[in-house]
Amino acid sequence: MDYLEIVGGKKLSGSVKISGAKNAALPIIAATILSDKEVTLTNLPNVVDIRTLLKLLTMLGGEVEHNETVAHINNGSITSTKAVYEIVSQMRASILVLGPLLARFGECEVSLPGGCAIGQRPIDLHLKALEAMGANIEIKGGYVRAEAKEGLIGAKIIFDKITVGGTENIVMAAALAHGTTTIINAAKEPEVVQLCEMIADAGVKIEGIGTNELSIEGTCWKPLDFQTVEIIPDRIEAGTYLCAGAITQSTITLEKVNHQHIRASIDKLESMGCTFELEEESITIHPAETIKPVSLITIEYPGFPTDMQAQFMALAVMAEGESLIEERLFENRFMHVSELNRLGADIWLKGSTAAVKGVEKLYGADVMATDLRASSALVLAALVAEGITNVRRIYHLDRGYDDLEGKLSKLGADIVRKKEA
Ligand code: EPZ
Repeated sequence: MDYLEIVGGKKLSGSVKISGAKNAALPIIAATILSDKEVTLTNLPNVVDIRTLLKLLTMLGGEVEHNETVAHINNGSITSTKAVYEIVSQMRASILVLGPLLARFGECEVSLPGGCAIGQRPIDLHLKALEAMGANIEIKGGYVRAEAKEGLIGAKIIFDKITVGGTENIVMAAALAHGTTTIINAAKEPEVVQLCEMIADAGVKIEGIGTNELSIEGTCWKPLDFQTVEIIPDRIEAGTYLCAGAITQSTITLEKVNHQHIRASIDKLESMGCTFELEEESITIHPAETIKPVSLITIEYPGFPTDMQAQFMALAVMAEGESLIEERLFENRFMHVSELNRLGADIWLKGSTAAVKGVEKLYGADVMATDLRASSALVLAALVAEGITNVRRIYHLDRGYDDLEGKLSKLGADIVRKKEA
């Protein structure tokens, strides 16, 4: 197993190119199932989760030609509609094939994702919405078996909670349904917006893109013909590098970003004393002289993203004063707290709120990554910890950060990937 050895204390400088967004690419790859023709995707991040979902498509019978950032996918040859446990258990986002498989083939079996390090993460809202669209759903042997032999029917869906994956699954299902589907309380994250735009560009009439109410006129089972899609920049990767600049008190530039998508992180970093120069597709962060404490609550877009909570906690550890961080989306997304405390942080948890008392120094230690964003928080802390930090179990990082150690090394960090003896 690989681990990262990081020697803290190095200043960063220069620029880093932000990759395509994993969480935009995953639903877009799933959406290619709605087509029986070749689709080209560009600016894919070179990360494990993308390869896992592409592997699932080939297991279903799809043809995939993948070369780091570009994939040519032809799902005209799909022969199976079963997403097996072997893949879904590796990556929960595989559940995103449920809506498109059911919409295109009228039946499918998708393994239930099971447990997750950051919370329960049920899929009840996805299933309830598909049932409202006329699907028969049964859970048996660890699989969701869904059937809509005459095709799905447009319906009015009111989500009890805003769900990114739920909205994506239902938008994809609705694209081939008979009639119009309305989604109330839809997610409006940039990744959901790009999925909607891809489907709208293929001729499906969608109203309300980028709002909490979507209306999708289905094609009555006619497969879609997609244009080439360039994946949007990864707003969470961008936010993570901004935190790298802030925590090491370095000036760095991020290339290929969408400022609008990272507004919540920029605002919080400004409140912590950082300043920014914005160009059309790049952003330069100038660090705070002393990092001020922060108060933040994770919430749906355009609010502060849960996927940036761990990284901001690492930064708050180095602030002068006490920060308060409340996690509202996932009940267990604080696994990084005890690992940060092993490096010398002073963080107290009470329910869904963490009180972070700033410390003067962190000291290198062995720490263990527990999920994707928790892992990047440990890397951030390690960049400023005195001595050597070994971040173990970095397969979590490899799922979602494209060449993290390569990009950080290029910025001047002392970080190397090593193999456990
Ligand atoms: C997406 O997960 C992202 N994953 C997550 O990123 C991100 O943290 C999350 O959205 C929130 O922004 C991908 O896009 C692949 P949700 P998703 O459905 O879609 C509850 C990362 O680090 N819920 O919006 O699974 C759920 O438990 C990952 O890149 C139900 O109760 O998240 C949570 O509390 C981690 N029932 C809330 O809704 C359901 O049926 C929001 O979850 C569905 C969700």
